[in-house]
Amino acid sequence: MQQASQNTNPSAPPPPLLSVTNVEVRYQGSILVLKNVSLTVGEGEIVALLGSNGAGKTTTLKSISSLIQSEEGEVTEGQIFFSDAPIHNQDPVVTVRRGLVQVMEGRRVLEHMSVEQNLIVASAPIKASRQQLNAALEEVYGIFPILSSFRHRQSGYLSGGQQQMLVIGRALMAKPRLLLLDEPSLGLSPIIVTAIFESIARINRELGTSILLVEQNAKVALNIAHRGYVLENGRIVMEGTREELLGNEDLKEFYLGISASGGRRSFKDIKQYRRRRRWLG
Ligand SMILES: Nc1ncnc2c1ncn2[C@@H]1O[C@H](COP(=O)(O)OP(=O)(O)O)[C@@H](O)[C@H]1O
Ligand SMILES: [Mg+2]
Repeated sequence: MQQASQNTNPSAPPPPLLSVTNVEVRYQGSILVLKNVSLTVGEGEIVALLGSNGAGKTTTLKSISSLIQSEEGEVTEGQIFFSDAPIHNQDPVVTVRRGLVQVMEGRRVLEHMSVEQNLIVASAPIKASRQQLNAALEEVYGIFPILSSFRHRQSGYLSGGQQQMLVIGRALMAKPRLLLLDEPSLGLSPIIVTAIFESIARINRELGTSILLVEQNAKVALNIAHRGYVLENGRIVMEGTREELLGNEDLKEFYLGISASGGRRSFKDIKQYRRRRRWLG
């Protein structure tokens, strides 16, 4: 991995904000889950990481944020650099202070606290001044106006969509340069999903936050992402720009649910696809 300080060519592109290179991850010292995973997120990009259930998407995010440690997981090969510093197998709080924040799957809010208390508590890692705290609150309320209306409401009483907004808002309170989002669409109605993904695009555009977005729902993710990767069985099997992925026949059929012949293919076709995949892999 070449670092910026060693980069003597002034016309060379800047190194990506995040680079994951040939990463292998194991749980409990033996269970191999990620195999030779490489991906990058450039400054200002939204990058989608797509894949079906059990593909290793959450493990990828948790290996970047080092939260796999709490599940006895470890990066056993390869490296992860954020803004030119190695961050794999680090103290997760140090990584948050560097500006990399993960929103976990499942919308975990502090249910007995108000919306605003949830947001204030989430700014703790960066030790903000009162003034910085107020500015951060206003920023979050600007992205999610509904949270401002409900700022004194106990967060356990929010709807699923509002709780998803609150957990993203909590992550913004730590002023991330890179936000890792784990399946923000999960279990929400299409209308709410659309609203949340519009807000994610605004965070990227207006606050300049780079985003690595994990989704099973390829369609909504590629609607806002600039580039994407597909993870299958712990390996990256496809990567491309938004347009390349949207135009890819395999992705269309098996992740977007659209096929050239119209409608979904049969299970037999899926089995043939899997066999073909094995040959390719
Ligand atoms: N703490 C853990 N210990 C052992 N295996 C795990 C653990 N967490 C996840 N796995 C396994 O790793 C694989 C990928 O899981 P995960 O990263 O959660 O996938 P995804 O988020 O794509 O659904 C699955 O086979 C899962 O059973
Ligand atoms: Mg997951």
